[in-house]
Amino acid sequence: MGSPSQTNPKQIVVALDFDSISPCEQLLNRLDPSLCRVKIGKELFTSAGPKVVELAQAHGFDVFLDLKFHDIPVTVAKAVKAAANLGVWMVNVHASGGRRMLDAAVEAIANVQNRPILIGVTVLTSMEQSELEQIGVAGPLDQQVVRLAKLVRDSGLDGVVCSAQEARQLKTNFGSDFVLVTPGIRLPGAAADDQRRIVTPADAVSLGSDYLVIGRPITQAADPVAVCRQIAESLSA
Ligand code: C5P
Repeated sequence: MGSPSQTNPKQIVVALDFDSISPCEQLLNRLDPSLCRVKIGKELFTSAGPKVVELAQAHGFDVFLDLKFHDIPVTVAKAVKAAANLGVWMVNVHASGGRRMLDAAVEAIANVQNRPILIGVTVLTSMEQSELEQIGVAGPLDQQVVRLAKLVRDSGLDGVVCSAQEARQLKTNFGSDFVLVTPGIRLPGAAADDQRRIVTPADAVSLGSDYLVIGRPITQAADPVAVCRQIAESLSA
């Protein structure tokens, strides 16, 4: 797979962070699938089920199913296969599930036609150094990110979710084909909301991010399509 930032203009992934299908459908009706893809996470999927994936696909969108699977290898393998059967474009698992779990996830979809991009979650960007220590992980947080990213790469997954701050080091260590998916994106001058470390779309891409997960800056905008277009243009400039 070539670097998406060179070969694929659709780098924006809109986070559909809704608690039910109705507001989600309203937004899908307004967004343009030629400008962005969408992400469906735990809240929406748990409340609405697989039909929300089908709905987004019926509107023409590629779906990142962000369920961060983390379980025994056989269970994760079956969950990833079920996601592939839904025809999702991207799916993810927790790298801290360990090597055998990651291998099982890769193996489960190895022969699937139009295999989803399989992404690992390293250290949740919400976690701080002190919280890592509380769960028994010694050493600096950034080293744990690199350690888990290496596990992800060695198992043959396609890349990781990371903060833009980690992107440059991860591309240096693991190569330009290692796919980086980055949340915490804000337009220049916009409110950070509850995100701690934010970067602009253009900065995230210049640091090495391939796909930008963007929620509220688009979902809460008066004109979501205009914001999408503005971001897409800032990326191609
Ligand atoms: O609204 P906002 O742009 O902050 O939304 C970011 C999206 O990315 C949300 O769906 C959030 O759950 C997700 N996310 C994140 N940080 C991570 C992983 C996922 O903000 N480390």
